[in-house]
Amino acid sequence: MKRKVYVTRKLPDVIVERLSETCEIRMWEEEERPVPREVLEEEIKDVDGLYCLLTEQIDAPLLDRADKLKVIANMAVGYNNIDIDAAKERGVTVTNTPGVLTETTADLTFSLLMATARRIPEASEYLRNGEWKTWSPMQLTGQDIHGATLGIIGLGRIGEAVAKRAKGFDMKVLYHNRSQNREAEGRLELHYTELHTLLRESDFVCVLTPFTPETKNMIDKEELDRMKESAIIINTARGGIVNEKALYDALKEKSIWAAGLDVFEEEPVSLNHPLLSLPNLVTLPHIGSASIATRMKMADLAATNLLDVLAGGDPPNKVV
Ligand code: DGY
Repeated sequence: MKRKVYVTRKLPDVIVERLSETCEIRMWEEEERPVPREVLEEEIKDVDGLYCLLTEQIDAPLLDRADKLKVIANMAVGYNNIDIDAAKERGVTVTNTPGVLTETTADLTFSLLMATARRIPEASEYLRNGEWKTWSPMQLTGQDIHGATLGIIGLGRIGEAVAKRAKGFDMKVLYHNRSQNREAEGRLELHYTELHTLLRESDFVCVLTPFTPETKNMIDKEELDRMKESAIIINTARGGIVNEKALYDALKEKSIWAAGLDVFEEEPVSLNHPLLSLPNLVTLPHIGSASIATRMKMADLAATNLLDVLAGGDPPNKVV
């Protein structure tokens, strides 16, 4: 008998076909709207596997309804949407999709850094709005990237990949991490610093640490106050790591120069969010890993993880 699997968003056909070879698939067919909680609560009741995205909150009350559930395959490297302890207690395996999105997310992080430093969205709008009347010495001037100091908070795979890109721009790279990585320091010419030193010395601060209870609001008023007036902060990790109220105040008062955000505490962010009223903020709708090739690899890897667990094997990316 085929195992039952629920998929929480429409997946590419090739992935559905792969899952369907050995599993009975039910799927939320919409692409632009997440599965409503009440639908998920019903669907999870009799499935062996759940294939989900970072948009679904997989918590203890939901897992209590899932008597047969063996695996939750999250199509993301981050898994802060899942109550890992609750899954572990109930003997449910959780998997994620690290590795395949590293370079693409580093590309986007660096793109956002460059777009923010050189005011690219603003300059493009300036032209389209008919404001470009002449060339002028200080018109739309931004911050130099080459030769600047980059501070990376969280030196995981993506942090290292961003550091590699920074070397091509002759940047000095500082990093702060839970543990010092001397091997990466030698390979990539990185300098380990305390968080406060990194904030004080960096021209660009990239937030690339996982979202955990320890990193929630890790960058708050006190941390922002330590940054240079000319500094730029980039967050492509998770919204809750940088306190949005404190960031708004810092940008509004120009105690830092600009920010680039791919992530928000609540997603999708409300159009009334105060941050969106600021000219010195460049924003994106959580597209760090959004290249066609990488999203296909993530979808396929999540499928591999799910199928391996249901076949009684060890998945490549087990979280618990
Ligand atoms: C992740 O994988 O955690 C990203 O946020 C989406 O690619």
